[in-house]
Amino acid sequence: MSSSLFSLEGKTVAVVGAGSGIGRAVAEGCAAHEGRVVCLDINPEPAQETADTILGKGGHAEAACVDLCDGGSVEAVFSTIRERHGSLDVLVCTPAMNVRKPLLDYTDEEFDRVIGLNLKGGLHAMQSAGRIMSDQGSGSIIMFSSIRSLLVEPGQGVYAATKAGILQMARALAAELGPKGVRVNAVAPGVVETPLTEPIKDDANWYRAYADRNILGRWAQPEEMVGATVFLASEAASYVTGTVIFVDAGWTATDGRFTPPGM
Ligand SMILES: NC(=O)c1ccc[n+]([C@@H]2O[C@H](COP(=O)([O-])OP(=O)(O)OC[C@H]3O[C@@H](n4cnc5c(N)ncnc54)[C@H](O)[C@@H]3O)[C@@H](O)[C@H]2O)c1
Repeated sequence: MSSSLFSLEGKTVAVVGAGSGIGRAVAEGCAAHEGRVVCLDINPEPAQETADTILGKGGHAEAACVDLCDGGSVEAVFSTIRERHGSLDVLVCTPAMNVRKPLLDYTDEEFDRVIGLNLKGGLHAMQSAGRIMSDQGSGSIIMFSSIRSLLVEPGQGVYAATKAGILQMARALAAELGPKGVRVNAVAPGVVETPLTEPIKDDANWYRAYADRNILGRWAQPEEMVGATVFLASEAASYVTGTVIFVDAGWTATDGRFTPPGM
């Protein structure tokens, strides 16, 4: 065992979605914990920027392009990683999209687009990493869910369904691959300031309402998702599988509406 429980030294870590938001922060965080990080994204330039930032700090990183919606592309990229580095030890998968609108107005095309990335794309990543990790007899898969896997609001029906769905697939995969030495878990953020949530930040009332909804009374920065992710990736989580860590400042612990006088 490594001298540090949370060290990722010697591990090859693939981060899909590393070009933005939480994926970028997590890629940098895994590198700061000594991981050899492969920054993957459908947009190659921002993924390369993340890799360059890591390299600039003396870490180990490279970048490549992958489209999660194309199962063949995911399979090819993950196989190349294994060939180049000898193993694929950790997968972190962040990409997701949202079309906010009432269910009565949802078109089939919008439904297919959201499900196609959030659920089918997630499945592609789990399948390709799962096959490699089963074969090598070890690995940790970390999927990104959301508080929306439990709680909804108007306009979030389809997105919420995908975030609950990814959790159930992660739990099933944990059960299927546990005997092969592969752990599968999820991180469920509250509200995090990233390009995905930029439109909310532009609306002061909306932004404040979400901050007031959690115990700490504020939004998270993407870097605040690193701790849970590195934990799940590392030997510190050797007995942790099939679970979800809510990193939500207590959003799911309280109803957040009212503090009685004197409390
Ligand atoms: N930001 C939040 O407040 C928040 C809250 C709860 C859950 N989450 C979850 O966290 C995860 C990351 O969110 P974020 O805010 O960092 O998003 P983001 O939009 O900032 O980043 C997503 C990244 O995924 C990449 N991507 C998109 N489609 C892709 C594809 N087909 N193949 C490969 N890469 C693709 C994008 O290029 C981008 O770099 C998502 O699963 C989201 O549901 C976010």
